[in-house]
Amino acid sequence: MEVREAVLRRRSVRGFLPKPVDPETLRRVIAIATRAPSGGNVQPWHVAAVIGAPLAALKQAMAESYGAAEPEPEYAIYPSPLPEPYRSRRFANGEQLYAALGIPRAEKAARLCWLGQNYQFFGAPAAFFIHTPRFMGAPQWADLGMWMQTVMLLLIEEGLTSCAQECWSRYPGIVRRFIPIPEEHVLFAAIAIGFEDEAAPANALRTDRAPLGEVATFHGF
Ligand SMILES: Cc1cc2nc3c(=O)[nH]c(=O)nc-3n(C[C@H](O)[C@H](O)[C@H](O)COP(=O)(O)O)c2cc1C
Repeated sequence: MEVREAVLRRRSVRGFLPKPVDPETLRRVIAIATRAPSGGNVQPWHVAAVIGAPLAALKQAMAESYGAAEPEPEYAIYPSPLPEPYRSRRFANGEQLYAALGIPRAEKAARLCWLGQNYQFFGAPAAFFIHTPRFMGAPQWADLGMWMQTVMLLLIEEGLTSCAQECWSRYPGIVRRFIPIPEEHVLFAAIAIGFEDEAAPANALRTDRAPLGEVATFHGF
């Protein structure tokens, strides 16, 4: 597979088949992704890969705990307020997702209920939790992102799909009941992993991107 094909095929999948993922595939992806670059080759990423009984137990606990009032995340996920044009992009993303799901803006309960699907990993049979020591700063967090994209592209090559999930930073305590993430680490995000359920309405979403003129300048071309 060409890199560009993997990049273009990767998208956030929010509805998975119950089909299990081969644990050896997950090990292989993690091993290759260690080749991701990081400033000073510090390799600040730590990953807890979860399938089977601990994942089922975590999903069950989240089904029991999830309610209308979500706890604050461990870190500020977005700046508050989020200025333009970022605010509008984020808003449009949410609206497009709910349009794919057929849930109108006024139906707050239905939207909240859908958000709870995050904590079932949208039905995915495997998940990675990405954590890093609390003393790491923005450059190391950027390295975590490189690692995550490397993983998500390798998953495409393996015929798998994924969804990055920062929402798990709201529930580090519950996650730690099932997965031993050190207290002195911050839980950055998870990645839901599995085979796409092509019939799931959320998976009809194809997200936009800002035009090149908004994000790039070219010099000496
Ligand atoms: C670090 C990170 C965290 C994310 N967290 C969530 C999340 O908690 N829930 C979710 O449904 N999508 C989450 N996403 C997916 C984004 O919404 C998605 O990447 C974006 O809308 C672009 O769509 P695409 O991935 O389909 O190209 C996250 C993505 C990234 C990179």
